[in-house]
Amino acid sequence: MPRSGQNTLEKTASNPPPNFDMNRLDLFPISTKIKNDRLTVAGHDLAELAEKNGTPLYVYDRATLDDAALGYKSALASSYPEPASVTYAGKAFLCLALAQWTQSHGLTVDCTGEGEIAIAAAAGVPRENILAHGVNKSNEDLKAAKKHAGIIVVDNLSELNRITNLPITNPPTLWLRLLPGVSVTTHHAHTQTGHQESKFGMTRGEILEAANLCRENNLPLNGIHFHQGSNFRDPEPLIPAIEMALDLAKEIGFSGEWHFCPGGGWGAAYHEDELPHPSIESYVRGIAEAVIEGCQSRGLDLPHLHLEPGRSLVARAGVAVYRVGAVKKRGDKTWLLTDGGMADNPRFALYGAGYSCLTVSGVGGERSGKVSIAGPYCESGDIVIEDLPMPKIKAGDLIAIPVAGAYHLSMSSNYNGARRPAVIWLEERDARLIQRRETTDDLLRRDLPLG
Ligand code: LLP
Repeated sequence: MPRSGQNTLEKTASNPPPNFDMNRLDLFPISTKIKNDRLTVAGHDLAELAEKNGTPLYVYDRATLDDAALGYKSALASSYPEPASVTYAGKAFLCLALAQWTQSHGLTVDCTGEGEIAIAAAAGVPRENILAHGVNKSNEDLKAAKKHAGIIVVDNLSELNRITNLPITNPPTLWLRLLPGVSVTTHHAHTQTGHQESKFGMTRGEILEAANLCRENNLPLNGIHFHQGSNFRDPEPLIPAIEMALDLAKEIGFSGEWHFCPGGGWGAAYHEDELPHPSIESYVRGIAEAVIEGCQSRGLDLPHLHLEPGRSLVARAGVAVYRVGAVKKRGDKTWLLTDGGMADNPRFALYGAGYSCLTVSGVGGERSGKVSIAGPYCESGDIVIEDLPMPKIKAGDLIAIPVAGAYHLSMSSNYNGARRPAVIWLEERDARLIQRRETTDDLLRRDLPLG
């Protein structure tokens, strides 16, 4: 299996023409191959999977998930001398199977609120591997965290006051979330969380007040956290934020075994123009060096270091397979209308996110012009891709959109009565349904008649 490397093209019946963009193939899961001009993932023919399970369909490649988790773990092991852990940010995509997979790598699972905590707990994630996040946790969220989580990351003073009043005998340990007031460059303002006006976390003054409150109430405070934003590829702005967090750790008086988490946010390439993406290893090394140097210069004990990635663990493992239902020419535009769109992937509508794609069959077909791809929903912003060079595509053809593993299904909706897609877990010799497609019965499940 190639490690994070280039995908392969099996020279069987036909080869792609010379202008075929191999980079585009490298956006796909690492086990992707072209066989007889058809896309396969982990040896499974995507067209056959779509035939059997219907579309829109999501597949997750286990080899790619494993590769990313091992990439993080080995980068930490080689660049940081003290204990270090990887926490999967479940908001990227969480279901029973994925939560179970996290435990095959001993990952902690970052759960936002009672709902995600319930999924992780149902998957058997042990208490010490559940971390409770949330910017405005309800009492129910806090109760679920108290019951199932090993760590609560406290977002604000009002939440801390409520934690103080909770009847807790064996409380989870607490970390404080810092608002560093330094922004990172992400794909959209809506995915920045560390800038001065952000709703997330506590200012320097609030952190010190929270630390005092913990001391006065004998709460088990032992860590500090920040998360600056999501989908950045330049980790430089993390450095001043790390410095600020270490200053606070010194002032609070953390020593011995204490915990530090500079969040997640490492990006992924969604389009061939964004390749090559800097490596996970370079990002982890940069953080580890800043933490080691920062602690040494302040006379701080090295903390247990935690990283909290979502997208960079799961995005590349996922592929969305859509069927084209109609082709429309409108001025210079050629629209492919597909059966998937903003209900399973609202990222274009929310952030103007750019994507790429390949046809599922005839992958090597010569490019015949640019297409734009839109879904079936009653909304002009229901766009998946704009102006992408593609071979000729007709109604009935299948397309595969790579980098679909993060923040698609977790942000999906029932808009226009959409039923969420089926999800298939792919390993060599095993293709397993891990989430069935929603049905019209599911749409009615919560409803009660007037009389
Ligand atoms: N930790 C915290 C506290 C977070 O809020 C997040 C993401 C992460 C870790 C993981 O970030 P990642 O490694 O996945 O970038 N819906 C947006 C992304 C929102 C991210 C929210 N927080 C998108 O589709 O781009």
